[in-house]
Amino acid sequence: MRVIAIDGPAGAGKSTVAREVARATGLQYLDTGAMYRCVALSVLRQHIDPFNEEAVGHVARSVSIDVQGVRAFLDGVDVSAEIRTPEISNTVSIIAAHTPVRDAMRMQQRQWIETNGGGVVEGRDIGTVVFPDAVLKVFLWASPEVRATRRVDQTGDDFDEVVRNITERDRIDSTRSDSPLRPADDAVSLNSSSIAVGDVVATIVQHFQERDGR
Ligand code: CDP
Repeated sequence: MRVIAIDGPAGAGKSTVAREVARATGLQYLDTGAMYRCVALSVLRQHIDPFNEEAVGHVARSVSIDVQGVRAFLDGVDVSAEIRTPEISNTVSIIAAHTPVRDAMRMQQRQWIETNGGGVVEGRDIGTVVFPDAVLKVFLWASPEVRATRRVDQTGDDFDEVVRNITERDRIDSTRSDSPLRPADDAVSLNSSSIAVGDVVATIVQHFQERDGR
């Protein structure tokens, strides 16, 4: 499958880079973080305890999630703005640590790739677990200061709150037992603090073209 996996922590610039790479390669783009955010939104709306693995797993299996580019639909309704609130950011890593949730999301991600004949997929476990045979795996990271500043510029949220949130999500995402955040052994590692976005995109496109064989 023609998959480019782009993994990394919050605020490393994955979405911007993934969208640009999709445009340059003609592949479709999938933001898997938006899928986990949709599950978190449904859990909060139903007043379910995010730590209740069984109940949250049931939600993940029963909701309909459709992520199209930058838009996300939960049970057919556009929730693109609702899934970006600080409340969701503070809950999403808790629900994403549950194996039943991850199983449900991974199944949908693999179906999405089958349907689209490949794609640029961004997340935390794409190169390590979801598509270990991806043509190209990228681990995109940046210093915590750069990541927090970037997120504040995007959302207008309070700086200290953003630092707390991304530090806590980094901790939960990288220490969970099911598919923790880490670079795949064969990933190309790029630091977006020191390389301009355009250069990150160009590097990824070049690596892909060399390996794609088309
Ligand atoms: O955009 P941002 O970097 O803030 O995060 P996101 O990509 O929207 O992902 C939100 C959260 O979903 C992450 O902090 C992870 O807890 C979870 N996630 C995951 O566990 N696995 C993925 N493939 C993607 C996201």
